[in-house]
Amino acid sequence: MVIKNKKMKVKSICCIGAGYVGGPTMAVIALKCPEIKVTVVDHNQKKIDLWNDSDLSKIPVFEPGLAEIIEKTRNKNLFFSVNIDQAIEDSEMIFMAVNTPTKTSGLGAGMASDLKYVEKCAKNIRDAASSKKIVIEKSTLPVRTAEKIKEILNQNSKGIDFEVLSNPEFLAEGTAINDLYKSDRVIIGGDNSKSGKEATTLLKNIYKKWIPEEKILTLNIWSAELSKLASNAMLAQRISSINSLSFLCEKTGANINEVSKAIGMDHRIGNKFLNPSPGFGGSCFQKDILNLVYLFKYYGLDDIAEYWHQVVKMNNYQRLRIANKIKDFISEKKLEKKVIILGWAFKKDTNDSRESSSIYVSFELLKMGYEIYVYDPKVNNTRILNDLKQLKQDLNNSEVNIDKNIKVLNTLKSAFKHEYPIVILTEWDEFKEINYLNTKLKIFDFRNIINREKTIFSL
Ligand code: NAD
Ligand code: UGA
Repeated sequence: MVIKNKKMKVKSICCIGAGYVGGPTMAVIALKCPEIKVTVVDHNQKKIDLWNDSDLSKIPVFEPGLAEIIEKTRNKNLFFSVNIDQAIEDSEMIFMAVNTPTKTSGLGAGMASDLKYVEKCAKNIRDAASSKKIVIEKSTLPVRTAEKIKEILNQNSKGIDFEVLSNPEFLAEGTAINDLYKSDRVIIGGDNSKSGKEATTLLKNIYKKWIPEEKILTLNIWSAELSKLASNAMLAQRISSINSLSFLCEKTGANINEVSKAIGMDHRIGNKFLNPSPGFGGSCFQKDILNLVYLFKYYGLDDIAEYWHQVVKMNNYQRLRIANKIKDFISEKKLEKKVIILGWAFKKDTNDSRESSSIYVSFELLKMGYEIYVYDPKVNNTRILNDLKQLKQDLNNSEVNIDKNIKVLNTLKSAFKHEYPIVILTEWDEFKEINYLNTKLKIFDFRNIINREKTIFSL
């Protein structure tokens, strides 16, 4: 343990929050820094038990390559625990990777980030620590949150110095391990003071173990916080832009795949994040843009707030368009109100379904009295039903009967036994096999992964 005013050496770190960020990021740090003891803590005992399960297929986050790292590092220098206070006390550096959802009540409800989990972490660190700690914001936070965190930490009666850094995470689910191995950049924001610079160097030294130094940017702390929100907003903006153009393609006979390719070949624009889709999902894009919208409004910049808000509105519009497309076809052909949804995860290669367009499209159909069969290779039955029940509750809807009208299928093959229209909403590789089936399936392809000639509708 380190004594005040002595040079700090990092031997132990901990991360509060064993979720989609905390688990994979700490696993990679443990792998790349075998000399550092890494402890991931969470107040959710069930989650920690799963991280410790000897059956690696049960770890709570599915990410290609993650289980192999856990196998190599777990109980060597990587530990999962519910003993948060102990981990704080034993660590020189503490990452906060807790969730920061959109507020559901109070000032800024529906827009601002709910910082209650981050604030709880800060209080926990303040109360459990008995020596200097470097506290690192890993969660995505509104710009100037570090001020609030410092305020909480400084309310300690033990005279402890805390240094706060912002080190936002840019991994994407499904490719998290690769993203962590080969980050485009690592951002570290810290104070310009002597101890701020020392803390920044200590964190930089960890990343330098595998990230080239020129990719590690040290910024002022507010720039670091804002860069994360801005990056997500710009990525989501591209998706809403391409999705908006898909409407015009449908009206004019242009092909969105061709348009996307043509735009993306301009090296100033680039070809990433120009795939049309049923709308972006995931736990972050919507919440981070709404957070940005709130910040603009907070500073009285209402017109700019509206500019960014349109990115989310466009996304919702795309989801509604999809539900209406299906409805129009079924009523025109006088078919039974039954469809098969392929894909529940918000993108391929993850078991995460937070904010997935599948939830919203399905709910629209359920409201119209549809019966829905769902297949996803990684999202389980309980989660699918819970996602819909949560939305039903959020929308205060009393009419939709989820248990009666949703049936979860266990195999892709079983989907083809039915003759109902098939709606592709996630781009799982296994769905591409449909290309090779010689069937008369009625396919709506909202990910453009099937030959267009084989579908009733592609974007
Ligand atoms: P998550 O919900 O998967 O995990 C958060 C974990 O924190 C949960 O397991 C929860 O039990 C735990 N937790 C909350 N409060 C706690 C407390 N006081 N003490 C102990 N444990 C606590 O969330 P996530 O997807 O990992 O996201 C975490 C943060 O990282 C968010 O701010 C998010 O915006 C950001 N982020 C997420 C991603 C992503 O791909 N999911 C990528 C980059 C950044
Ligand atoms: C996104 C960012 O890409 C990460 O950099 C960031 O760290 C993360 O959010 C976060 O802060 O949580 P993630 O949401 O995991 O990562 O996945 P993305 O690959 O960005 O996909 C988000 C959604 O956009 C998915 O539903 C995906 O299908 C959709 N998408 C993506 C499109 O519709 N079109 C595209 O061209 C790309």
